Formats: sequence, structure tokens, C-alpha cells
Amino acid sequence: MDAVKAGISQTAATAAPVIVTGGAGFIGSNFVLEWLAAGKGPVINLDKLTYAGNPENLASVANDPNYTFVHGDICDGELVAKIFADHKPRAILHFAAESHVDRSILGPEAFLKTNIDGTFALLKAARAYYDTLAGEEKERFRFLHVSTDEVYGTLEPEDPAFHENTPYAPNSPYAASKAASDHLVRAWVHTYGLPAMITNCSNNYGPHHFPEKLIPLMISNAQKGKPLPVYGDGQQVRDWLYVVDHCKAIMTVLEKGKPGETYNVGGGNQRTNLDVVNTLCALLDELVPDSPYKPHAQLITYVADRPGHDRRYAIDARKLEGELGWRAQESFETGLRKTVEWYLANKEWVEHVTSGAYQQWMDKNYGSREAVAEGTR
Ligand code: NAD
Ligand code: TYD
Repeated sequence: MDAVKAGISQTAATAAPVIVTGGAGFIGSNFVLEWLAAGKGPVINLDKLTYAGNPENLASVANDPNYTFVHGDICDGELVAKIFADHKPRAILHFAAESHVDRSILGPEAFLKTNIDGTFALLKAARAYYDTLAGEEKERFRFLHVSTDEVYGTLEPEDPAFHENTPYAPNSPYAASKAASDHLVRAWVHTYGLPAMITNCSNNYGPHHFPEKLIPLMISNAQKGKPLPVYGDGQQVRDWLYVVDHCKAIMTVLEKGKPGETYNVGGGNQRTNLDVVNTLCALLDELVPDSPYKPHAQLITYVADRPGHDRRYAIDARKLEGELGWRAQESFETGLRKTVEWYLANKEWVEHVTSGAYQQWMDKNYGSREAVAEGTR
């Protein structure tokens, strides 16, 4: 009898949809694809389709009966409430954000709007919906807020990695807006009892990564023989995680995480930016042996540093590994190779996302960063 009951409840749980926000972006689209491939049930994707959102990322599931796309803004409270009422989700996974640090420096407004106001609108709607639930539906409802390690600020070379109790010290407008959103989520747990969880992840890389971020920008520029702009001395350290490993961590937290808890997500791959760019160049030398730009490392160009540039990020993921049993599957070497191979096989995708508005961004961000000679850095 118990087994039958468990069986029924399992089916009901799988049949209830989840809402994903920002599912047309880099991590969100990888998540939706992984979710559907794993047969985890229906997913409603709410996305505004900013410059970073691309429906092409989800073309392969556009006709899947388990996939529903809603074009809209997370700041639109009425729309969000209607999605909750219409679809009665068992969870919301909140990826939508303005996510690029350099853009936040040149134009912070959109970051405050989407990352803070948008998260507030989702929390408000989720709480109202949660209050209508009872019994098993109430028991299983979750709000999972996808955040970043950048809320913790910057580390000195010998500092221990960020853990869940590291004090918040955001340094960029992006990081500050994400920190604010994390604080809102925390307050909704403690004040209203909303069963929310936060994940703080390190830098991701992989397919569908918009070519304004370090790794896809370098792959894209190197293929065209364009300069590879390294900020400052290139000795800043990031802790890299393959995007599918991040998606699996989010699924693990959704399934096994405790409401009210925060989980740090990272792969233990600390690399300097210069090391990353040199590794990418070596991979391209190998995978594109007839490239006229070989050796690609000759394209490396030092440019003016990012203002307020955080020197080092590193994540301590022992809580997620120890308590919930998650482990990263890709090493940096295997993940980076897969990533370069994906970009080489998907040149059209890059062409489509690097049209008009992208060129304006490149001029705005890099136009004022003159190449800096090595001795004068
Ligand atoms: P992204 O910029 O590639 O995608 C963001 C998506 O959100 C896009 O599809 C965009 O259209 C959508 N969006 C933006 N504003 C919206 C709004 N107001 N309403 C609805 N949709 C909106 O971002 P990403 O790299 O995939 O990051 C996803 C999440 O993961 C973000 O919350 C980010 O802070 C977090 N994160 C990213 C990284 C990383 O390395 N990329 C690391 C840790 C955490
Ligand atoms: P980025 O991909 O923008 O991620 P984040 O700022 O969130 O860590 O940048 C990763 C690192 O690469 C960061 O230290 C800034 C540096 N960087 C460059 O050196 N050149 C570039 O053109 C870009 C976009 C980033």
C-alpha cells in the first residue's frame, strides 16, 4: 500500500510543472534541455528575450509537449501571478538576470531593475501562490534562487575559498544587485516561511554562452584573427565549472536541498585568465590546424583593466558534495575541449547572436580600452 501511495505521489510530483525564469539564456537553456532529457516533467519558461536570451537555444524542444514558452518580464507582477495560477507549479527555478559585470559598470539600471525588482516580483507572487496550497502540494513547493559567488567579493591569493557563511562583500553593480536579491530571498524565508533555497555558483562555461564573456569571446575572436583582450595583467583567478555540472547541481538542490539553506556550487578549477586564454589558444591550434592565425596566442592583447576588478574567486562546495552527494563530472580540460568543439560546430549560432546590437556593445566596452604595452601595465 505504501509503495502504491509512493508511486502515485511520485507520478503526481513529476506531472506538476516547474517554472524556469531566464530559460532562453546560457545556463537556463542548458538547464531546460537537461531537465527535459531527464524526463523530469513539464517546464514553463518565462523569458523576456533580452540580447542574452535566444529562442534558438531551445529550438530542439520547441515542439515538446512538456515545454511551454512565455515571452515576458519577471518584473510584471500580474503576468507572474497568472503563470502561477494557470500552471500550479511545484517549483520555480529563478535564473533570469542581467549577468555581465562589464555591462553593469557601463549601465547599472537594468541590473537593479531585473535582478532586484524582478526577484521581488517573483517572491511576491510565489508567496501568494504558496499560501493557497495545502497538504502534499504545499510540502513539496520550492523557490530556487540561482545566484553567484560574486556576492562574496574578492579573495587574496592565500585566502580560503568562499563558503556558505562567508560575509557578503559585493564589489560590482552586478554583484551588488545579486547580493540584494539573495537578501530578499533570505527575508522571504525567515519572515514569510517561503520554502526557498539559494545556490551561489562560480563562473560557468559551455555551449550557448554569449560571446561577451571571457571564454566564448576569446574563441570567437581567435577564429577571426581578432585581438584577444586580456584585462590588466591577466592574473585574476576564476573557479570554472562546466555548465551542465551546474545544472545538475541545481536539480540536486531542488530534489534534496533543505528550505532556507544556501549551497555553494563549484568545480575546484581555479585558473588565471591568462592561463585560460592560453589553454583555449592551444586547443584551437590543435582543432583548427589549418587556421591562418596559428599560433592563436599571438593574438593576446593586454588592455586597460576593468574598474574594481575582483582579483580572485574560489568556491568551497563541500556542503553540496557532503550533504547532497553532488559531484562535478567534467574536469576543466574535458569541459573546455567540449566547449571549443561546440563553438567550432555552431558557427551559425555565433553569427546570429553577434549582429547589430552586439557590435555596438563591443565598441562601447572595448573602444576606450586601448591596447596596453606589456611593460606599461
Ligand atoms: P544570461 O545573461 O545568459 O541569461 C539571462 C536570461 O534571462 C536571458 O535569457 C534573458 O533574456 C533573461 N532575462 C533577463 N532579464 C529578464 C527579465 N526582466 N525578465 C525575464 N527574463 C529576463 O545569464 P546566465 O549566464 O545564463 O545566468 C543565469 C543565472 O545564473 C543568473 O541569475 C546569474 O546571475 C547566475 N550565475 C551565472 C554564472 C555564469 O558564469 N554565467 C555563474 C553563477 C551564477
Ligand atoms: P567574465 O566572463 O566577464 O566573468 P566574471 O566577470 O563574471 O568573472 O570575465 C571573466 C574574467 O575574464 C574576469 O576576470 C574578467 C576577464 N576578462 C578579460 O580579461 N577580458 C575580456 O574581454 C572579458 C570579457 C573578461
